[in-house]
Amino acid sequence: MSEHNDITVRPREVIERILSMELVRVTERAAVSAALLRGRGDEKAADQAAVDAMRRELNKLPIDGRIVIGEGERDEAPMLFIGEKVGNGTGPKVDIAVDPLEGTTLCAKDMPGAIAVMAMAQAGSLLYAPDVYMDKIAIGPGYAPGIVDLDAKPEDNIHALAKAKGVKPSEITALIMDRPRHAELIDAVRKTGASIRLITDGDVAGVIFTAMQQQTGIDIYLGIGGAPEGVLAAAALRCVGGQMQGRLILDSQEKVERAKTMGITDPLKKYDMNELASGDVIVSATGVTDGALLAGVKFKGDVIETETIVYRSITGTVRKIYGEHREMAKFNLD
Ligand code: FBP
Repeated sequence: MSEHNDITVRPREVIERILSMELVRVTERAAVSAALLRGRGDEKAADQAAVDAMRRELNKLPIDGRIVIGEGERDEAPMLFIGEKVGNGTGPKVDIAVDPLEGTTLCAKDMPGAIAVMAMAQAGSLLYAPDVYMDKIAIGPGYAPGIVDLDAKPEDNIHALAKAKGVKPSEITALIMDRPRHAELIDAVRKTGASIRLITDGDVAGVIFTAMQQQTGIDIYLGIGGAPEGVLAAAALRCVGGQMQGRLILDSQEKVERAKTMGITDPLKKYDMNELASGDVIVSATGVTDGALLAGVKFKGDVIETETIVYRSITGTVRKIYGEHREMAKFNLD
């Protein structure tokens, strides 16, 4: 079959295939810009560099995009704010979720795990949510639906997961963000005998690790992190078939009102992975610093190396893309 016929038969898919490569370029640029400021102790500068690069690249794309998960709300984020239009306006209407530098502190301290990440989906398919916290639970693929639940006790979730996996609770490893707010959760999980890997930052990758159990050893993600990170992680996990639930933490009237303006009428709603990210989704992430998910950017004289992972929900394809950038190195990014 000729390529032309292919396009006629599956127009939407072909457009998305082209766009997946475009997303790689977007996160590559953001990662390289942030990586130039690795280890300088300046979170804001690194984040701004990633935001500028991501926005510039996004605006070159043949899409009619709207930021649904971004750098914050309009009054507090001048760029890539929630609701901002991106793209050159010529292509499909799409929702965009971005975290140009996920793990600003990791980058500023040159610690493992900082990434540049974004998701693109058909308009209306990513949760349009304020920049608040989200309570999350996630496991990788291969389990019967509903074996763990956000509203179940942590110890019950660990026992249920261990049973489904056919192991003792002590053979389960949970990943939790190292925060005082998780003291009780950590205590409850430890009492089951399960092991806990604590992370200082970067819970988009933290959730994704559950889908790479063989490499990471992580069986379950539990706890509270950013809502934007929750949507991005759900988008990636959906592509590989894991399970995730999230609930926005709208713990003040002001947050409830803000959420309402975005169409969220039930402040206590428990979102399933497919409600956080539905439809056809593409997710791209490029390493900024070395980490378990991705290698960081390497500056090697006249070549800049990057590593990117791209997820596509329509096929469940995951690609790791190694990039060597000569022009970028020559002209110092532009
Ligand atoms: P930033 O890149 O915005 O600093 O976010 C890093 C992060 O660790 C996320 O991965 C996580 O979801 C969130 O912060 C948790 O927030 P907090 O640091 O307030 O606990």
